[in-house]
This record gives sequence, structure tokens and C-alpha cells, in this order.
Amino acid sequence: MANQNEDERVVRDLDDRWNRVYIENDRAPFAEILADDIRLTWPDGRSELGKAKMMEPTPKRRVEFSERGFEIHGATAVTRGRIRVYHPEGPAEQRFVRVYVKSDGRWQAVSVHVFPIDPAADAKVPVTWSPPRIETERLVLTWPSLEQIRGHHDAIVGTDMFDTIVWEGPEGPEDLEGFWAEAKRRNPAQTELDLDFAVIERASDRCVGGVSLRPIDGEPTTIDIGYAFAPTCHGQGIATEGVGALIGHAFAERGAERISASIFVGNDASKRVVEKLGFKHEGTLRRAVLKRGTWIDEWLYAITRPDWEG
Ligand SMILES: CC(C)(COP(=O)(O)OP(=O)(O)OC[C@H]1O[C@@H](n2cnc3c(N)ncnc32)[C@H](O)[C@@H]1OP(=O)(O)O)[C@@H](O)C(=O)NCCC(=O)NCCS
Repeated sequence: MANQNEDERVVRDLDDRWNRVYIENDRAPFAEILADDIRLTWPDGRSELGKAKMMEPTPKRRVEFSERGFEIHGATAVTRGRIRVYHPEGPAEQRFVRVYVKSDGRWQAVSVHVFPIDPAADAKVPVTWSPPRIETERLVLTWPSLEQIRGHHDAIVGTDMFDTIVWEGPEGPEDLEGFWAEAKRRNPAQTELDLDFAVIERASDRCVGGVSLRPIDGEPTTIDIGYAFAPTCHGQGIATEGVGALIGHAFAERGAERISASIFVGNDASKRVVEKLGFKHEGTLRRAVLKRGTWIDEWLYAITRPDWEG
């Protein structure tokens, strides 16, 4: 059993390093992770022997890994996962299965099979993890039901909520439903992945807003946050309560060391929210966002673990 645990630790470490090859776009670790004769099979079914092929550089892309699976059978281990690659022309999603074999006491990957994802079929794959849940006096931060998504859609379309954020709003209820279907596929226990919460008001059981944690470059210690609330609930301290709970969770449960927020210059209500929570102004990002044909500056605010603990 002790050996099995050690084998599991080694293979999980190799698998994490493999993911980081893509996150950091540095192929050098492949020299150790991959067997020389690793067989790779592409989404179109082509198959080739290819450590050298896999070590060829490719352009750096933002990537997200999710849905990790792991099995070990004696000297063979199989891992499974899903990757989203943000290409300039749009994100692409694939699943992969990696096979590792222990030979002469050393684990190396001998095969990887990459599958295309059919979005229609994939939507039917059940999500296996429990929803995240953070509770405050008036709010619950969690994943929303379909009814809550639809109610929130109706509460925000056509309002001025999108004047002060990059997103221009949903193009229809199915747009928001798609967003949440995707958000629920990311395992909340994986701190390197984005995590989105709907903010549910306990009294009405309605979704009044959304808050998000976005690890920068997949690094869970440095997190960027986003938040937006329906205009009907503004001015009641709801954002301060919801965002406060979010950052408390990130520091206490997810190992955050620094949490930042970028706020359109002039968004005084948002500035006030983060100031009330102990964020400090670090500077102004000039011409940071192109919104409706105009370049907009952003205030950069951040709170660090010592700020939060003090
Ligand atoms: C910004 C936003 C999150 C604030 O939500 P909220 O629930 O009204 O926030 P709170 O009630 O917790 O706190 C707002 C604070 O800003 C103050 N405020 C509101 N409007 C203001 C204004 N125009 N100028 C200065 N202060 C203002 C309020 O008085 C309150 O401060 P106080 O408690 O000291 O009185 C909300 O307006 C929103 O979602 N806007 C659209 C999306 C957005 O801009 N998101 C933020 C992106 S960085």
C-alpha cells in the first residue's frame, strides 16, 4: 500500500508537470515526463511516435485544465482530463487520456490520446463534484439553479450594469445558461481554475449577482476578482457582503496571497466596495480596456494576505 501511495504521488506529480508545460509554455520538462517512444493520437485519429514532436515549440496560449481522473493498476497508470485552449479565433476544448508505465523503477508516459469534444454530447456528461457554498448573513454564494439563472437574466438585460464592466451582457437566457454549464464543469477543489459563484439572496432565493475568482496564469496564490450585481439591489451593502465573503474564502480556503481588482476609472461605487474591504490603490492601468470604441483606464486595487490578517 505504501508503494502504491508513492507511485500515485509520483504519477500525479508527473501529470501536474505535464499540465504546467502547457500553462507555462515550456517544453523542457517533457524530456523527463515522456518516454522516447510515446505514442500520441490526435483528435482526427492520426497517430504517431513522438517525444520529439511533442517537444516542438508552439505559440503560448492561455489554457485551463479540468475534470481530472486517475487510476493505477500495478505498473500502469491512466489519467484523464479536459483542456480548454484559448486560440485567437476562439476557445477549443479537448479531452485527453494519458497512460504511464513504470519500467526499471521509473514512471514515464507512454501514450496520450486526445479527443475532440462534441459540445452537444458533452453537455450531457454529468458534473460529479459538489457545488461550492459560502454563506453570509443575507447571502449564499453558490451555483445557481436554472430558474435562478433565468430570473437573473430578466433582472439584468437592458440595464446599465454593463456600462462599467468588459462584458456587454447576455445575448439571451441561453447565453447565461451556457456560461453556468461551463462554470459547473470546473472542479471547485482545483484552486488553479477559475471559480464562479452566483450570489443568492436568502430572503428571496433569487440570484442578485455574480462574483468570480480568476487565478492569474493558473497560479492560485495571485487571484483577480470580478463582480457585478443587479441594479435592483444596489446601495444595500450587498456587494460589500458578497465580495467580502469571496475574498475571505480565497484567503482562508484557497491559499490566496494577493487578490486584485481592476476597476474602470470613475466607477466610484466599485472603488468604495473594495476600499471598505481593505484593498489598496496600487496605480492606474492606462488604456487597459477597449469598450464601445473608447480606450478606458483602470484603477488597480489589491489586498494581500498580511493586509487581510492585520
Ligand atoms: C459596483 C457595484 C458592485 C456596487 O454594488 P452595491 O451592492 O451597490 O455596493 P455596496 O452597497 O456594498 O457599496 C457601495 C458603496 O459605494 C457607494 N456609492 C454608490 N454609488 C456611488 C457613487 N456614484 N460615488 C461614490 N460612492 C458611491 C455607496 O454609498 C456605498 O458606500 P457606503 O457603504 O460607504 O455608503 C454595483 O454597482 C455593480 O454591480 N455595478 C455594475 C457592475 C460593476 O461595475 N462591477 C464592478 C466591476 S469592477
